[in-house]
Amino acid sequence: MEWSPELMRKLEALRAKIEATDQDFETYVNGWQLQRFQNYWDYIQLDTLLSLQRPTTEVEDEPIFIIYHQITELYFKLARIEIDAIAKSSDSTVPEFIERVQRINRYFGALRGSFGVMELGMKKEEFLAFRDALAPASGFQSVQYRIIELGCSPLINLVPENLRESLNNASIEKQLEHIYWKSGATVEDTGKPAYTATQFIEKYWDDLLFTAEAYEHCNIWQRFQELQSKANTEELAEVKNALRALDLNVNVNWPLQHYKTAVRYLSKKPTDIPATGGTNWQKYLPPRFQRRIFFPELWTEQQKAEWGKSWVHEVLAELEGAH
Ligand code: HEM
Repeated sequence: MEWSPELMRKLEALRAKIEATDQDFETYVNGWQLQRFQNYWDYIQLDTLLSLQRPTTEVEDEPIFIIYHQITELYFKLARIEIDAIAKSSDSTVPEFIERVQRINRYFGALRGSFGVMELGMKKEEFLAFRDALAPASGFQSVQYRIIELGCSPLINLVPENLRESLNNASIEKQLEHIYWKSGATVEDTGKPAYTATQFIEKYWDDLLFTAEAYEHCNIWQRFQELQSKANTEELAEVKNALRALDLNVNVNWPLQHYKTAVRYLSKKPTDIPATGGTNWQKYLPPRFQRRIFFPELWTEQQKAEWGKSWVHEVLAELEGAH
């Protein structure tokens, strides 16, 4: 390869970059010469990744359960990257904002499409055999799931409907005290908070408060409010569709897939099998009971009243068809 003027210009630019920080260019050249070539397995940390599956039992299907949870957490991380990018950029354009929301929708779409790995992919008797070894651990304790919620929606929308009026002007700390999952996950027989929730709160409460405060003025809804005036009619329709799809993906579709899976493994006549988290899951999990909605302003009264019911699939198909 020739030392073309183009290449020389690039080297000059590189040197200028390094010298601008009072560092020595030649030291870098020496370093590059000695550097090992990159390879796939180190680059994606394959050995570490494959060492992270540690079943607690000998039951054959347990690794499926662990690996799929890990896959989900990685998708949650991808969603958080987009949420943070939205939170950080106060001056993004409408198309940039739409693209980021659509990325999150794609991640949740992938999770919805793959949930059969859980719903159908394990032998029921094997699941019921290894699950006892997990108690009281539960996906309920997924902190990333909670962070995604805080990054999407004003906190007040995550407080039970009957408390919203009285807490509307309360501090973030006070609102967080009443977040739906804190008192929602209770023990069926006693009504007390399930231990899985107590344990989770003990570990993550301070982090969650920090996160809730950090997102107060830059969650997805807030950023959308700021962008609205920049959007033309077409863009406004598109951005609202992307946000509606996000609301349905996180608050209806994923929860419905998940609930169907819980039913497959834990439903048993005449009484259901207690979950490892020990909650009243039949009342807690279905989206039609929880009615969590990130962006209530984007839905009609009827859609909100019938949240989690059959209309959802038709609307989502339309929204997805639009992209
Ligand atoms: C066979 C598969 C699964 C079953 C039977 C199941 C069951 C349950 C149950 C019964 C609950 C209520 C809390 C409790 O009592 O434990 C719950 C909560 C939860 N699970 Fe799962 N789950 C499964 C797979 C997953 C996967 C793959 C994830 C992905 C991270 C996950 C994430 C969650 C989350 C985030 C909650 C809290 C939901 C909320 O607060 O509305 N679960 N699960």
